[in-house]
Amino acid sequence: MGQSPGSLLYSKYCLSCHQEDGTGVRGTFPPLAGNIKITGPSKDIVRIVLFGLQGPLVVNERDYDQVMPPQNYLTDQQIADILTYIRNAWGNKAVPVTPGEVAGVRKLGK
Ligand code: HEC
Repeated sequence: MGQSPGSLLYSKYCLSCHQEDGTGVRGTFPPLAGNIKITGPSKDIVRIVLFGLQGPLVVNERDYDQVMPPQNYLTDQQIADILTYIRNAWGNKAVPVTPGEVAGVRKLGK
């Protein structure tokens, strides 16, 4: 999926923190590769992208406690493309996320 819309958007909006290979930065930015939350229920990760995330977190037995700012300036389509990409990059495998799902979570609010 080298140059898919999702991979290009990932490079622009997520890579600076989560890194090109999705492994993040140990202790600061959690990995998206090999992280069961990324391939789990899509609503959870849609919510994180729209509304941000902060507070203590354990991913693959490592602690994180930083702030991810909301990325709600992205469109429903862009978020669906990015999440579909990260759910199927770096060895991850999961069903795509649709713009309709993103719209639903956005409407519901935090
Ligand atoms: C400015 C840095 C930054 C950017 C840009 C960023 N994130 Fe994050 N992200 C974080 C941090 C920090 C956390 C962990 C927050 C915490 O410690 O509670 C996180 C957590 C996450 C999580 C939850 C991981 C878990 O296991 O709970 C997901 C999913 C995620 N980011 C996806 C994305 C996506 C997709 C993008 C691009 C649209 C993105 N992030 C952009 C910093 C960033």
